Amino acid sequence: MTFLFNSDARRGAIFAEAFAKELPDLPFAMDAATVHPDAVRYLITWTVPENLACYRNLEVLFSIGAGVDQFHFDAVPAAVKVVRMVEEGIMRMMQEYVALAVLALHRNLPAYLAQQRAGEWRDIPQFQAGSRRIGVLGLGTLGQAVLERLEPFGFPLAGWSRSPRRIEGVTCYHGKPGLKKMLVTSDILVCLLPLTEETRGFLNAELFAKLPEGASLVHTGRGPQLDHEALIAALDSGHLCAAMIDVTDPEPLPAAHPFWSHPKIILTPHVASITQPATAARAVIENIRRHRAGLDPIGLVDRSRGY
Ligand code: NDP
Ligand code: OXD
Repeated sequence: MTFLFNSDARRGAIFAEAFAKELPDLPFAMDAATVHPDAVRYLITWTVPENLACYRNLEVLFSIGAGVDQFHFDAVPAAVKVVRMVEEGIMRMMQEYVALAVLALHRNLPAYLAQQRAGEWRDIPQFQAGSRRIGVLGLGTLGQAVLERLEPFGFPLAGWSRSPRRIEGVTCYHGKPGLKKMLVTSDILVCLLPLTEETRGFLNAELFAKLPEGASLVHTGRGPQLDHEALIAALDSGHLCAAMIDVTDPEPLPAAHPFWSHPKIILTPHVASITQPATAARAVIENIRRHRAGLDPIGLVDRSRGY
């Protein structure tokens, strides 16, 4: 019975140390060539390896990241549990990034950066936090974490999910009827949805049209959720004011892509949040203990929903 780590060696070394201490009875391998495939019960990876079928006794497939859209579920036997990464390091980094982005947009940073480049010294009328409404698409692990971090600033907070949720201090909406209600009151919209067939192309012209005049976007979900042309059109028409974009399709963008130089866009290279090995190893070890005890792992993916 072996745990196979299929990712970078730096994080692997930290996992190996934690496993040796916490699960000494479970052999840990970082080189698939050194393990008999039949021994592999647990595999952590970013993408599904082409030879997955050779791991006939695989029980749990862990994603090294929070997303699982990079997995092709068809290639994973139905009996194998698929688990996304739920760990405090990834949550903390996403909290930081979204707080940074929301504050940057709230305080007109993209416009001030453009003014600086143009040598222009001019103040822009400033809304107070109490009248800047934030809407978060996705109320899962990360959506809830960022709402918690935004709470002390005093923004009116709302969120949207598939199923009904109750979160103190947050107006929660769900399903199709709830979406429009939240969009029309979102001055800053944050996307933290997983990529599924339902959310592909979700951030499009129709959705932008429902946002209030002068709204802004923070996109930290997945690149294929965003219609790039629709965003440029909404920014150029003035309907949207600015956007902070962390994920694109493709990644990286081609050199001539308008996002690189658009004055109303701040672009970062998919760095909003990154799995932190020490905390991630703890989370995976806890999940192995749960699995051994017959409990569902935290972050178990429902394949029928795609997340
Ligand atoms: P979760 O699975 O915990 O939460 C997903 C949320 O989205 C849930 O609230 C779910 O609703 C909601 N949702 C999914 N589909 C729909 C739908 N069709 N309609 C309405 N709501 C929907 O995921 P996480 O919070 O852990 O992560 C979210 C995503 O963040 C990841 O999938 C990944 O794409 C992205 N990410 C980006 C990173 C970056 O660096 N840019 C880093 C890490 C993650 P319900 O509650 O009803 O299930
Ligand atoms: C993730 C990511 O899913 O880095 O963890 O995007």
